[in-house]
Amino acid sequence: MNTIITIDGPAGSGKSTVSRMIAETLQFFYLDTGAMYRAVALQAKREGVDCGDSKKLERICDNIDLNFWMDGGCNKLSLGSEDVTLAIRSPEMDMLSSKISAVKEVRDAMKTLQRKMGSKGRMVAEGRDMGTVVFPDADYKFFVTALPEIRAERRFKEWQDRGEIVSMAEVAKELKKRDNQDTNRDIAPLRPAKDAKVIDSTALNQNEVVELILKEIKK
Ligand code: DC
Repeated sequence: MNTIITIDGPAGSGKSTVSRMIAETLQFFYLDTGAMYRAVALQAKREGVDCGDSKKLERICDNIDLNFWMDGGCNKLSLGSEDVTLAIRSPEMDMLSSKISAVKEVRDAMKTLQRKMGSKGRMVAEGRDMGTVVFPDADYKFFVTALPEIRAERRFKEWQDRGEIVSMAEVAKELKKRDNQDTNRDIAPLRPAKDAKVIDSTALNQNEVVELILKEIKK
């Protein structure tokens, strides 16, 4: 079956964990498209390429070698032969990936890669534009969101668990900035597809969101 499930939503909505859990339950491939933009941002930083240099960014995307694999329930990503799973998760990469993802050349290249990865189906595709642009014909579409303050709290906890020293106020400010960038860009802005089921996870834990989604799929 060529089934594609898309799960979009803003940062801190809990969509990543939920997507991974759904993929695990259904034995589907989990595609974390945010990680792809993060890897492009990391490579651009390493090569000293600016966000405004679309030609050089296009070249980076043309040559990028990304591979996902699962390791003990953890979704890992390699860039060439290097495991960049942790390197792409810094606060700096949060902002840089968001900026770089507004560049048309980058989005076009990622869209092509993502569609190729999804060509065999059995995939949970998670991101910002999975249901609207990359897989408009997906079998099931979800948009997971939550109140900004709740999302900021979740991010703050994530950073604390990772040992990053950031204040709650800083996290909330960065999240708002990223929400704005991702929502107001010209190409493939963050928004629910018309046929997506919107799930507000403000008062729900991850297991409850997973249950809701699986129930919807089984319908
Ligand atoms: O999901 P994430 O926080 O890891 O994504 C990092 C950035 O990548 C996000 O701020 C916007 C961008 N992104 C995107 O534009 N489209 C996607 N499908 C996924 C992520």
